[in-house]
Amino acid sequence: MQTVLDPPEVAIVAAPAAGTPNPLVAQFRAARRVSVPLVAITTPDAAATIQLLAESLKESVPQLAWDAASGLRASNSEGQAARAMVVGDGFDATRGNPQELFTGAAKLPPETVLFVLMANRWLGSPAVIQALWNLRDRFKCDRRTVVLLGTAAELPPELAGDVLVMDDPLPGPSELAQIVREQCAAASLEVADHVVDAAVEAVRGLSAFGAEQSVAMSLRTDGLDLEELWERKRQQVQLTPGLRVHKGGERFEGVGGVPTIKSLLSRVLLGNDRPGAVVFLDEIEKFMGGAAGQGADTSGVAQDQLGTILGYMQDHGAAGALFVGPPGSAKSMIAKACGPEGGIPTIQLDLGEMKGSLMGQSEHNLRTALKVITSVSNGRSLWLATSNNIFSLPPELRRRFTLGVYFFDLPSPAERNQIWDIWLRHYGLSGPLPPDPEWTGAEVQTCCDIAHRLRCTLVEAAAFVVPVSRSAPDQVDRLRSSADGKYLSASTPGVYRRTDATLPPGFGARRMSTLQQDN
Ligand SMILES: Nc1ncnc2c1ncn2[C@@H]1O[C@H](COP(=O)(O)OP(=O)(O)O)[C@@H](O)[C@H]1O
Ligand SMILES: [Mg+2]
Repeated sequence: MQTVLDPPEVAIVAAPAAGTPNPLVAQFRAARRVSVPLVAITTPDAAATIQLLAESLKESVPQLAWDAASGLRASNSEGQAARAMVVGDGFDATRGNPQELFTGAAKLPPETVLFVLMANRWLGSPAVIQALWNLRDRFKCDRRTVVLLGTAAELPPELAGDVLVMDDPLPGPSELAQIVREQCAAASLEVADHVVDAAVEAVRGLSAFGAEQSVAMSLRTDGLDLEELWERKRQQVQLTPGLRVHKGGERFEGVGGVPTIKSLLSRVLLGNDRPGAVVFLDEIEKFMGGAAGQGADTSGVAQDQLGTILGYMQDHGAAGALFVGPPGSAKSMIAKACGPEGGIPTIQLDLGEMKGSLMGQSEHNLRTALKVITSVSNGRSLWLATSNNIFSLPPELRRRFTLGVYFFDLPSPAERNQIWDIWLRHYGLSGPLPPDPEWTGAEVQTCCDIAHRLRCTLVEAAAFVVPVSRSAPDQVDRLRSSADGKYLSASTPGVYRRTDATLPPGFGARRMSTLQQDN
């Protein structure tokens, strides 16, 4: 009944630039229409969320905001009268005391919206929980709303059924474009559309406040400093526990061999539904704990996190590829080069770094990180994971990496020649090459690096190289057999098939079966 009679609260909505209603505003208005009394919103920027919601409310709705340091404050003139009903003119007993706040809030007039900052920090106390719960039915009757704001919405079980949880995502491209234009206009700076687009790319993933600050600080008299803008974003993403923007300048042309995976990824990076960011999970076996992929780790936390990631990939329809192979076979190098190849950031996700001292902190950090990833990639992330020693991959993992599992074998002689070329050129070296049976790319690079540092010949430098095919032949052997017929090959089209490798001509005619090392 009420919903029919009351005009919907759209009168003063400041519509975001492109005219599409903000999803949070739409949800919040729907909640107000049906008199939801308790709402929790997870947000990276509470002030921006309050402003957004406040603009969507009618002027006649009393609005108040509470934070621990300032106590109760009115956000509009109606709110002033409402505030006086709770704290009067003098001493504000609610300051630092949310229980006092929620008890007093019972006196607020109908329709009031009360924003509570850092609410998640206070919901550990039974008295606070009870005082909040007591408001539920009274607030429901006359359309009052408590809006609990925080970076996480971890509700105590007593409230879980009574609070409607919403999420204020980071600003989308149209909101960011508006921020860029406003900042430039304020500085009387004319900017072309393509500069605005480039700036939006560079601030994606930041909160509204963060984006505003970054743009403001990147304004120059002659335009926007896009490099500076990227650098600031790198720093901000870096502040998210467990996330790092990879900065190196690797490109595919600097990787010798593995033509199949290079061509596949180039096509993905530049094809339909172009990814907005590469997410790089290095050495995924660490997340799986214990005997890689065979058993659970002792805490189960890493396993849960992997589950969360796989769920995220499914929900976002994210593409992914998994690289398996002996160490030094260019798996990480390829993953890092994908960002620069596609002109997008490579974000490394490190689950170990997310561990916190508090219960549930890893989960909270991972959720925050995924939110940042969604925003930086505009919802289109490409996931690349590597592993040096996974022998059997859990099926749910294989399923999520929809582009396939690729085996990076030790390079063939032809591939090794390409790798020698790359590193000889890089270090400015020449001269006869040492015997290099079953060397990885990393070992070729090490040999060149030593020759360069010691100013010795490559043959002399080779004495310092212990190839993995010699130090861990069993591991290489097991990897090859577990990949045989099962994983795709990074070097040749189709499924990997194990073959006997042959020594390149000129280094002795002994046949090397895949691993039988001379000794
Ligand atoms: N195919 C290759 N071409 C050029 N350099 C390579 C190649 N493979 C390995 N390297 C060198 O070895 C280093 C380590 O390789 P990396 O990709 O980290 O190995 P992993 O497969 O263990 O992830 C690289 O940073 C690069 O310098
Ligand atoms: Mg690696």
